[in-house]
Amino acid sequence: MPSDLWCLIFLSVGAYFVTCRLIAKFRDVFVRANLFGIDLCKSTGAEVPEAVGVLCGCVYLVCMFLFIPARFGQDFIQQKENFPHHELVEYITALLGVTCILLLGFADDVLDVPWRVKLLLPAIAALPILLVYYATFDTTFVMVPKPLHPVLGQSLDLGWGYYLYMGMVVVFSTNAINILAGINGLECGQSVVIAISVLIFNSVEVFMGEVSTHPHMFSIHLLLPFIATSAALLRYNWYPAQVFVGDTFCYFSGMLFATVGILGHFSKTLLLFFIPQVINFVYSVPQVFRFVPCPRHRLPRYNKVTNNIEMSTVRFKESDLKFLGRASVSILESLGLLAVTRNLGENKDFIECNNFTLVNLVLKFFGPMHEQSTTIIILLIQLLCSCVAFAIRYPLARLFYDV
Ligand code: UD1
Ligand code: MG
Repeated sequence: MPSDLWCLIFLSVGAYFVTCRLIAKFRDVFVRANLFGIDLCKSTGAEVPEAVGVLCGCVYLVCMFLFIPARFGQDFIQQKENFPHHELVEYITALLGVTCILLLGFADDVLDVPWRVKLLLPAIAALPILLVYYATFDTTFVMVPKPLHPVLGQSLDLGWGYYLYMGMVVVFSTNAINILAGINGLECGQSVVIAISVLIFNSVEVFMGEVSTHPHMFSIHLLLPFIATSAALLRYNWYPAQVFVGDTFCYFSGMLFATVGILGHFSKTLLLFFIPQVINFVYSVPQVFRFVPCPRHRLPRYNKVTNNIEMSTVRFKESDLKFLGRASVSILESLGLLAVTRNLGENKDFIECNNFTLVNLVLKFFGPMHEQSTTIIILLIQLLCSCVAFAIRYPLARLFYDV
C-alpha cells in the first residue's frame, strides 16, 4: 500500500477522535447560539443541538489540507518539472466544492433557505467541478448495451447533455440524503453505508482493475476522512440522538459523493449506490412537486403510549387535487404503496394518506416500530441495495457491456 495512504489512514483515525471531542465539547454552544431542534419522535421535548455536521465538515477539511503535503510533497521534490498539476487542481477543486456546500448547508440551517434556492445553489457550487472535468477528462461518451449496438453503435456521444446530467447528479445527491431523513441516525447512517460501499468499489478497481487507477485512488483519498468524521457524528446522532446533523451534513455528504463520482469518472456507477434515495425521491415526487399537499415535516409520528413511531399522514380534500395529484394517489393506492382513508370530516369530503416517504412506506409494511429498529431496517435496505449495486456493476454489466 502506498505510504501516503498509510498517512491518510493515520490522519483519519485522528479525525475520528478530534470530531468526537469537538462534538462533546461544543454541543452546548450550539444550543446557546439558538441552533437547536426539538426531537419530534420523543416526548421529552429536549433541545437537541442542530447543524452539528458543520464540525464534521471542518475537521474533514483540516484533515484534507494536512494530507496535501503527504500526497504531493514527494512528487514536488522528485519531479518538479513534471509535477502532476491537474491532480492537484482536481484535489483543490473537490475541497472548494465541499467548502461551498458547507457554507450553503449552514446558511440553510440558520436561515431556512427556500426550496428553489436549495435546488439552484448546489448546481452553481458544482460549476468548478464540471469545469475541471472538462479541462482534464472531457469524456462525454456513454457505452451502449450490446443488444443496441446495431442501432446506436458501440458508444454514444452525449456532448453538453452529459454535463447537464452531471449537474443533475450534484443537485440530486445533495437533496436526496436530506429528504430521506427525520429519524435518529438515518442521514448519517445512510451516508456511512454509501461511503463504505463506494470505497469498496474503488478498492476493487484499484487493486484488481486494469484501467487507470488514479481516479479511484482520488476517490479513496476523499472518502477515508469522510467515513471517519461521519462515524464520529453517527456516534452522537444514533438513537437517542444527542445532536442533529442538520442540512449542513446532508449537503456536505451529497456533494462529496457527487464530486468523487464526477472527478473519479464513475458518476453512473455512483447512482447504483443511491437506489434507496432514488426510490424515496420518486415516491416523494407528488409531495415535493406539490401535486399533493406537503406538510413542513413528513417524518413519522411518535406514539407516546407505545413508544413506537408510526406513519405520519396528511389530510386534504380530494376535490382540491388537480389531475396529477389524483392520479398519483390512485396509482400508488392501487399498487398497495399508499395507505388511504376516505370520507373523513363533517361532510365526509376529506381524505387522509401517509406522507410519501420511504420511512413511512417501511412503517406501512412492517407496522409501527421503535425508532431505532426503523433506522436499522432502512440501513439494512441500504446495505442490501449496495449488494444489488455490485451485482449490477460486475456480473450483470459484463453480460451487456464489454467491461
Ligand atoms: C426534510 C424533509 C422533511 C423532514 C425533515 C426531517 C422533505 C421535502 N423534507 O426537511 O419532511 O421532516 O427533513 O429531517 O422531505 N428531526 C427529528 N429527528 C431526527 C432528525 C430531525 O425530530 O432524527 C427534526 C428536528 O425537529 C430537526 C428537524 O427535523 O430540528 C430538521 O429538519 P430540517 O432538516 O430543517 O428539514 P428539511 O431538511 O427542510
Ligand atoms: Mg434536513
